[in-house]
Amino acid sequence: MENPRDINSILTKGKIIEQVNLSNNYHKIKIKAPQIPQEAKPGQFVMLSKWKIKELFLKRPFSFYNIEPNLGTFDILYKNIGKGTQILAESKIGDLVELIGPLGNGFNIPENTRKVAVVARGIGVAPLIPLMLESKKRGIEIYSFLSAQTENLLLCSNKIESISRETFYTTDDGTKGAKGKVTGFLEKILKEIVVDVVYTCGSKRLAKHIRNLQKKYNFLAFVSLEEHMACGIGTCKGCVRKTKYGYKRVCKEGPVFPVEEVIFND
Ligand SMILES: Cc1cc2nc3c(=O)[nH]c(=O)nc-3n(C[C@H](O)[C@H](O)[C@H](O)COP(=O)(O)OP(=O)(O)OC[C@H]3O[C@@H](n4cnc5c(N)ncnc54)[C@H](O)[C@@H]3O)c2cc1C
Ligand code: FES
Repeated sequence: MENPRDINSILTKGKIIEQVNLSNNYHKIKIKAPQIPQEAKPGQFVMLSKWKIKELFLKRPFSFYNIEPNLGTFDILYKNIGKGTQILAESKIGDLVELIGPLGNGFNIPENTRKVAVVARGIGVAPLIPLMLESKKRGIEIYSFLSAQTENLLLCSNKIESISRETFYTTDDGTKGAKGKVTGFLEKILKEIVVDVVYTCGSKRLAKHIRNLQKKYNFLAFVSLEEHMACGIGTCKGCVRKTKYGYKRVCKEGPVFPVEEVIFND
């Protein structure tokens, strides 16, 4: 996909068929674009636009929150934080979007995995849900560790509780679960059971804590990184992150990386 001509061959149109305002600037959108969910894997993403205005010509990256190949649909869970997501939040059923995807490497679930932990803060939970569903399908036990500023910013908690063996919450204001670091709960569990893989998304702070715990408890750990993206397909190099093996493109070699490879103090 390094050749720009390939962009046209992977550009596709999708139709918005559902738009739900969850709360506090969080929205869920369902898009019909049959080709994309056929190929999509947990942890991959799409580049999306529905804007034609001059100052906003770049597509924006969004992870798959729900993948339904049989229905030809996928969902995105997103937070309205700027111009693009505002336009998306104002869209109507039937509106068309332009898409490139599925993109990126997605999450790896190593063979013989028996127990995983999923650690997320706020909207970071979005790409982890399909991973949890896939893990559950494979008979893997899931321990979930969720944090947010306050209770009503804890997303998808019912869904997560229904898939997880145990779910732990922390909120900054103590409105749900404990106050403090969600990785404190993770360490408690790591002392009791062998967790094969820990997954997280978005927050550098969480990923750094997980890296420190990894040194002590020796598990595999993967982080899905978020960077500003322009092309999403590996050509512009605008999304590079420093790793132990040099600079890597988050859109192409990522967004999922082993935590020990990422250099966080840049
Ligand atoms: C692989 C990947 C998957 C993603 N999946 C999701 C998802 O499932 N749900 C979701 O809500 N968001 C997701 N994001 C983030 C999403 O792409 C941005 O929120 C979106 O591009 C914002 O567009 P905007 O035009 O509304 O905001 P802009 O007007 O472009 O930006 C508003 C503010 O947010 C900051 N910002 C924008 N994008 C990022 C970013 N990637 N990292 C840090 N700061 C940023 C800007 O610097 C600015 O301060 C993902 C990002 C990546 C790289
Ligand atoms: S966004 Fe262009 S190389 Fe990653």
